[in-house]
Amino acid sequence: MTNKIILDCDPGHDDAIALILAHGNPEIELVAVTTVHGNQTIEKVTRNALAVARIAGITGIPFAAGAHRPLVRTAEVADSIHGESGLDGPVLPTPSFEPDPRHAVDLIIDTILAAAPRTITLVPTGALTNIALAVRKEPRIASLVKEVVLMGGGYHVGNWSAAAEFNIVIDPEAAHIVFNESWKLTMVGLDVTHQALATPDVVAAIAAVDTAPARFVVELLDFFRQTYRDAQGFEHPPVHDPCAVALVIDPSVMTVVRVPLDIELTGSLTLGMTVADFRSAPPHDCTTHAATNLDHAKFWALIVDALVRIGDPAH
Ligand code: BDR
Ligand code: CA
Repeated sequence: MTNKIILDCDPGHDDAIALILAHGNPEIELVAVTTVHGNQTIEKVTRNALAVARIAGITGIPFAAGAHRPLVRTAEVADSIHGESGLDGPVLPTPSFEPDPRHAVDLIIDTILAAAPRTITLVPTGALTNIALAVRKEPRIASLVKEVVLMGGGYHVGNWSAAAEFNIVIDPEAAHIVFNESWKLTMVGLDVTHQALATPDVVAAIAAVDTAPARFVVELLDFFRQTYRDAQGFEHPPVHDPCAVALVIDPSVMTVVRVPLDIELTGSLTLGMTVADFRSAPPHDCTTHAATNLDHAKFWALIVDALVRIGDPAH
């Protein structure tokens, strides 16, 4: 049985690779793609998602644009990491189809209500604004989704501040809503994604696939390597977002523990921190989980396998 997912993303170099992995892996059925402000403006990330769809040959599913800004705070973009376009590096094709006319929040709700209960997994890889708005607008989705597996946060590490990760800290109020819902939630945070490094052997394995989508991924990783080196001192770039998709595909790709998680909303130094309480066994009603350890070889093998299966799509 395949896992049906809605990918809520802000492409973004690693979001683009997450989209390619979700499309190319046979265990996943991508049922909708929604976009959210984050790495760049909503206009740019939506255009980027559609361009990636063209490169990877993704057709026949709805793509919809969502929130243009956080619930409370001023919008912030990550151009130091993803560039002016949000997907700097490769030349992007003109999208081959238009986005769905619905707002992303309505597409998320409609898709979950139309599906059999507990068959859809939400995979957010950007700010949690759309997901928070969706569950506030239609609270029934909290018990109708199978689970939420998100890229964001981290329990011992930050990247946008000393204590907080980008996707969470740019809209901490939205994250607070999403982390405090009753659904099963797994945080695939920096603890794991900082292990998902695109080392030279990984890039060589992707280049060897030698198709247009594989060359596109190599160009993304080349740009990502440079910005992660300049902005954050990484030797090899951490490729965050496909980790969340990989966990849905194969739970053995990382270790996951059940632990109470919450979002700091008032700390002057710790705003947006994902606070994990490891002091004792979690209470029986705890529905939050954190991924802790990644199988690097297994993870990258999934990416290469997806690219091999995608091949060279006709445009
Ligand atoms: C997250 O922030 C974004 O820049 C990436 O796309 C990823 O989702 C990592 O902190
Ligand atoms: Ca992202």
